[in-house]
Amino acid sequence: MAWNYRTIIEPFKIKSVEPLPFLSRGQRQRALERAGWNLFHLPASRVLLDLLTDSGTNAMSGMQWAGMMQADESYAGARSFFRLEKAVRELTGFRYVIPVHQGRAAERILFSFLGGRGKIVLSNTLFDTTRANIEFSGARAVDLPIREALDFDSPYPFKGNLDLQAFRQWIRRHGASRLLCVVTLTNNSLGGQPVSLQNLKGIRALCRRHGIALFLDAARFAENAYLIKLRERGQQRRTSREIARQMFRLADGCLVSGKKDGLVNMGGFLALHNPQWAQQARNMLILTEGFPTYGGLAGRDLEALAQGLEEVLDEEYLKYRIRSIEYLGMGLLRAGIPILRPTGGHAVYVDAGRLLPQIPRHRFPAQALACHLYLEGGIRAVEIGSLMFGRKARAELLRLAIPRRVYTQSHMDYVIEVFSRIHRKIHRIRGLRILEAPRVLRHFSARLRWV
Ligand code: F0G
Repeated sequence: MAWNYRTIIEPFKIKSVEPLPFLSRGQRQRALERAGWNLFHLPASRVLLDLLTDSGTNAMSGMQWAGMMQADESYAGARSFFRLEKAVRELTGFRYVIPVHQGRAAERILFSFLGGRGKIVLSNTLFDTTRANIEFSGARAVDLPIREALDFDSPYPFKGNLDLQAFRQWIRRHGASRLLCVVTLTNNSLGGQPVSLQNLKGIRALCRRHGIALFLDAARFAENAYLIKLRERGQQRRTSREIARQMFRLADGCLVSGKKDGLVNMGGFLALHNPQWAQQARNMLILTEGFPTYGGLAGRDLEALAQGLEEVLDEEYLKYRIRSIEYLGMGLLRAGIPILRPTGGHAVYVDAGRLLPQIPRHRFPAQALACHLYLEGGIRAVEIGSLMFGRKARAELLRLAIPRRVYTQSHMDYVIEVFSRIHRKIHRIRGLRILEAPRVLRHFSARLRWV
């Protein structure tokens, strides 16, 4: 049946619920004061809608919960491991499947033997922890996004693409033997934007010609595959699963945080072709995560992840997911709120720099907006701007990340309504100054105050 109604409906019904806390404005004001105007310090019990992250905040299905009850908790060779191994092999084609407790563990393990001084990792844009793990190994991390990625109004459909011209220059200048490549699908740090199959094939061809290893940071592989199906010429008739399988087969390995498109609350994996790398990875795994058939996870986590990897490629789910995020973005635009366009996979990114031109960068416009969003409607979002990146910030963004299968369309309508109210008093919003902050990763623990 072709489903051609305009209304977006959740492709599931709800069998287990959790009440939301409704606080008065005065209560929210006090909670924010206690949190030092930093939403990371807010207890979740004070938050009505939590859009801080889509990571580990997903709702699981009845099938996942059932799998958890039947999981095998054996230390070595658990049945649940073999189920995950089979699911990952079928999806990715990689022979060696190494479970880890979350994405950054896979990063640390991989770069402990492939990184190091003298190595250079090129990427469309690395996620913070990936970059940090690369740099921690002594290697250099370089982002090569395409030009359109930094133009928030450009309608270009694949702003996650890597700049192939720039890639060739790095090969010419530094020689291929020092290089590695990591492609982030979708590109979280620059708006959850997808990478096209064509771009991936171009990267693959360059890497193969020059003997450069290519890895996918595939936390949001299903959203990327579906956006290819929607936007790339000639892909409409294929299933998201076929596209995802093809994406993985263009690479030498992948790092996956299962907390996103794995539809779980904890878990991840590293998957590879090369047996020597797999051996090195397993040696490191035993040192810091656990035995190779559980890697820091319980059997029930392995089971839930195996099932989640199946469910996430359901076309009805992906259609709803991407349409719902687009709906939120379009609603905000209609309310006069500038956003990064087009909307991508897992979040809507508000251009706070443009919305609050009266607040200079060193007074944190996106953080000020985050505080007002909480004060006005109890909504928690995350600043991606000068508080997070200091002078290296490329823009002042507020990310509204949408947990998977957790909130409904009426919650999206509520977010739009709250933003409409904020818009009416936008000129009255002031900036913030830092009272105290550590040197590194200050956005997690800084305390601030209105100027
Ligand atoms: N890669 C990407 C693209 C990510 O977005 C994340 C996490 C990781 C790797 C690390 O995975 O958290 O399981 O260790 N992103 C979360 C976020 C934290 O809010 O965007 P992890």
